[in-house]
Amino acid sequence: MGLHTRFPTSSPLLTPRELDLLPRLRFLDPACGSGNFLLLAFRELRRLELDALAEQQRGQQVLDVAHLIRVNVGQFYGIEYDEFPAQIARVAMWLADHQANIEASQTLGQNFVNLPLMQAAHIKHGDALETDWAEHLNLEADAPGLARLYIVGNPPFVGGKKMSAAQRAQVVREFAGVKDAGVLDYVAAWYVKAAKVMQATAREFPGLQTAAALVSTNSVTQGEQVAPLWGNVLQDYGQTITAAHRTFKWSNDAPGQAAVHCVIVQFQPSAQASGPRRLFTYSSPTAQPLEMQAQNITPYLTDGPAVIVQKAGNPLRAGVPPIHFGNMPLDGGNLLLTEQERAELLEKEPAAAKFVRPLLDAQDFLNGGTRFCLWLEGAEPAELARLPEVRKRVEAVKAWRLASVAPSTQKFAATPALFRDRRLPERYLAVPSVSSERREYVPVGYLDSGTVVNNLLFMVPDADLFTFGVIQSRPHMDWMRAVSVGWPQSLDGFE
Ligand SMILES: C[S@@+](CC[C@H](N)C(=O)[O-])C[C@H]1O[C@@H](n2cnc3c(N)ncnc32)[C@H](O)[C@@H]1O
Repeated sequence: MGLHTRFPTSSPLLTPRELDLLPRLRFLDPACGSGNFLLLAFRELRRLELDALAEQQRGQQVLDVAHLIRVNVGQFYGIEYDEFPAQIARVAMWLADHQANIEASQTLGQNFVNLPLMQAAHIKHGDALETDWAEHLNLEADAPGLARLYIVGNPPFVGGKKMSAAQRAQVVREFAGVKDAGVLDYVAAWYVKAAKVMQATAREFPGLQTAAALVSTNSVTQGEQVAPLWGNVLQDYGQTITAAHRTFKWSNDAPGQAAVHCVIVQFQPSAQASGPRRLFTYSSPTAQPLEMQAQNITPYLTDGPAVIVQKAGNPLRAGVPPIHFGNMPLDGGNLLLTEQERAELLEKEPAAAKFVRPLLDAQDFLNGGTRFCLWLEGAEPAELARLPEVRKRVEAVKAWRLASVAPSTQKFAATPALFRDRRLPERYLAVPSVSSERREYVPVGYLDSGTVVNNLLFMVPDADLFTFGVIQSRPHMDWMRAVSVGWPQSLDGFE
């Protein structure tokens, strides 16, 4: 069912105390789809129980299997937005129950059928972000009898830019009052909601231990998402990361599903976080994990002190030159020229040559570029009047900006000959915002005002050689690998 999971072939037998614990566990998958996580958890728990029971009952006549088996599907809770998978999850849990009963009958030598079906998994068809999880779990009534609550799943992966307005509003609501919550992915809302539920549970039902472990895209442990997400979860809601899998590639059987680079982060209320911190690392996204014990697991999934890198618009220290984005054209493509368009324009209007400059984005900078742009800063109206082809392009920019639904774009229709940004220092250091992880060093280099860089490059005006050295240095490259977005495909940590 699209889930590749390898479990150890033999687990140590449970002690009688652990066996007693099993029926007092509760599981919630708050984006359960067709229920794979719940299904596997149920199946493995029943197997653990069965192995221990078989050992206990060895050589004895089993009188009543129904009384021995205490793990039941009623311990499993799910929430799913789509109705069809929610129904599948319910049925799949019954089938898993039936299969587990057959295994029990074969192992314990007594026919065991759980009919009529008295217990069912609690799968709610609804929006997890509009659902009170504690209420769905019936904690008010059941918590005193429970020992542990586990929140698991792989909530929806919807990137910040692809989210619907309603989804974004949900995320912002979950992170009420948190600075920069607007940059978060949809999945972040599940992290913080789990943290809130666990914090409240620890307060109201101190005997009930909780832990959450979510699979998600690695973006929640990189770049600008780290501060709003983990600052909130760890500091405001008192959680600690107790185990994590660093980036690995998770492929999916489902047709048309691309493999995603995932992480798994387990966290729990700090007061309950005892025991070693387990960190699983992958030498490549498809390698087998290596487990190490960590002193402390940071939100970047490294072993180290609990430091969260905050976004800063200005240098942190005096004497360090500022770094800016390059220039966003915001032009509908009308100020940009291919090599051929440039040649055609200059054939018709040779006088336009002084306004045409090479344009680089991060790719062009790294691999060589052949694009150009019209840079009309300082052009006199009288000069433009003699360049009808150029004027045509300027008119097209104006029309494009006016047609935009964004007032911030429409505003720039007043200056249609110009890029949105107009930063072109005489000499500057260009720093690509995106690069391949395969590069050991991200190349940076000096450019001058003869070349325009767009907003996919950063620029450090008048950077001295010391600045060049620091940006190009090994420690800076390592720092980027640790905190920037997009490993393993790209680096975007210069901001
Ligand atoms: C990545 S899938 C999880 C698949 C699941 N582990 C399984 O076994 O099928 C994410 C699921 O979250 C559901 N979902 C999306 N938005 C949701 C919401 N607001 N509340 C609850 N479920 C949601 C999707 O319909 C999808 O089934």
